[in-house]
Parts: sequence; C-alpha cells; structure tokens
Amino acid sequence: MTMGYAPGKVILFGEHAVVYGRPAIAIPVTQVQAQAEVQDVPTDKGIVIVAEDLSFIHRVGPEPTINEQARPLETIVLKTLEWLHITPRPAICITVRSTVPLARGLGSSAAVSTAIVRALAAHFSIAITPQEVSELVYQTEIIHHGTPSGIDNTVIAFEQPVYFVRGKPVEPFQVGRPFHIAIADTGIPSSTKVVVGDVRTAWEANPERYEALFNRIGAIVQRARIIIERGESHLLGPLMDENHQLLRALGVSSRELDLLAKAARKAGAGGAKLSGAGRGGNLIALVTPKTATAVERALREAGARDVLITAVS
Ligand code: PMV
Repeated sequence: MTMGYAPGKVILFGEHAVVYGRPAIAIPVTQVQAQAEVQDVPTDKGIVIVAEDLSFIHRVGPEPTINEQARPLETIVLKTLEWLHITPRPAICITVRSTVPLARGLGSSAAVSTAIVRALAAHFSIAITPQEVSELVYQTEIIHHGTPSGIDNTVIAFEQPVYFVRGKPVEPFQVGRPFHIAIADTGIPSSTKVVVGDVRTAWEANPERYEALFNRIGAIVQRARIIIERGESHLLGPLMDENHQLLRALGVSSRELDLLAKAARKAGAGGAKLSGAGRGGNLIALVTPKTATAVERALREAGARDVLITAVS
C-alpha cells in the first residue's frame, strides 16, 4: 500500500486577473488535506477508484467514462499511468479521501489529483518533480474549470508560496517574516467555471473597463510580493481591501462575502478580501496573534460556516 498527500490552497492576491495574464500570489494551506492510497488487487479487478467522501466506487472500463463525477478521477489516474509508462494497465485500487471542502476556492480538485499522482508515482517507485505533478494535474483542472490559469495545480504541487503568471515558469518566493490569515468559509458553494465564464462575457462586452481593472489588480499583486518578501506584512491589509473592491467591480463578490469582510475589519483585521472565484467560497482576512481570536469570533457571528487561522511562512 502506498500513500500520496496534498494540501489545499488559497489565493492571496490576483484571482481572475490571473486568467488574463496578470500575476497572482497563492499559498498552500496545510490544515486541510487530500490523500490517496494505492493497493495492488487481484488481476481480474482492473483499476478501481474509491472516493470515500463522495461515496462512490468507480471501475475504470475500456472506454472513457461518461460519469461526470468519476471522469476527473479516471482521467488523472490514466494520464499518470501513461506518464509513468505503466503498461498494460495494472490491477490497483485507489482510495481517495479529502478534508479540503469542495467548491470553496481551497483547491479541492487540484489537491485530490495531486495526491493521486504522488501515490501512483510512489507505488511504482518512479520519481516525479513538482513541475511534472503540476502539469499532469492541470489536465484534470481543465475538466473541472474550463480554462483555468493553472495557479491551483502549481501552488499545490510546489507546496510553497508562489508568484504565478500564466504560461511562465513558476516563481516560488521568500516570505520575509511569517504572518497569519483567517480563512472564513461562507458555506456557499461556487462554480469557478461559471464565475470565470461570467467575467469573460463581461470582458468581451467591455474589454477596456475590464483590462483596466485587471491592470490595477496586477499592480496590487506586484506591490504585495515586495511587501511579503520584505516581511512588512502589516502593510498588506490596505492592499487586500483594495483588491476586494476591484473584485466587487468585476462582479464576483456577494452580499455574504461583503458582510464577512466588513465584520473582519471591524473586529481588528488589517484587511480582508474574497479569495478564489468568488460569489461564495472563502473570505481571507489579515490577522495577528493578538487579533485572531476576535476576528474569528466576528466572522462566525457574521455567518461564516468555518474559520481556519493559517500561517504564511
Ligand atoms: O475558486 P478557485 O480557487 O478555483 O480559484 C479560481 C481562481 C480564478 O483566478 C478565478 C480562476 C483561475 O483559473 O485562476
């Protein structure tokens, strides 16, 4: 039996604009985790995928599956086996478990795929680099999200803070001094594919307005990177607030996210913004060891389903 693990992630700055070539910053979140377990089974069983949290068992057949739920898992398993040059198909059971909440901007699909790739590579004793893991996982991210920027698979495969520009080599960067953020779950699922599609429609109708908003977001990301590298994280709050306002202007915030942002700031957070696709999912707020408890309480009182405090280091 062999195991593979992967963390969740949050985007600190730059979501949506990153789809249009601007930079974004994302960090791994280790409090949530996906895991995959690979076991050899009798030869007549073929490849079986057990998704424990989704309560389904899928047997990989000779033709690609038409089952929507199973397709991304089947795809990552088959693409990885192909990459590892494992032929003929082995008889294995892959069991997947995850504490990364689904459709909340925490990268659940990329985390599950990454855990599967790592478990399979370990099972067949083949070394695989983070870049190779990331590229394989991207191929299933396309099934989930349409035309994703690739930031989720990158930050999760590299497991360190990344400054990401679509199509460019990943730039891991140094965090000058660790800092903390609260991650508050609105409890509202959000489809990245739908929200990204809506932004595209709006951009097509009014490219000048949207390009200008993306440029402003891109400039915030560049400033944020310098601040994080210098260890001056107390200066990040206003940038988070500004980024949130620009995301509102893109039309991807919601009443719930705005309420949580307001509650966090009132309770002492340095700044707050939605994270990920928006409309639901998560809000992030800049906290310190001193403000964390009050901010967490305020977020819960304002309706957050769950709150995690995570260190960025
Ligand atoms: O909701 P998430 O975590 O999948 O984030 C989506 C981030 C976007 O920038 C909106 C889309 C993308 O592909 O980068």
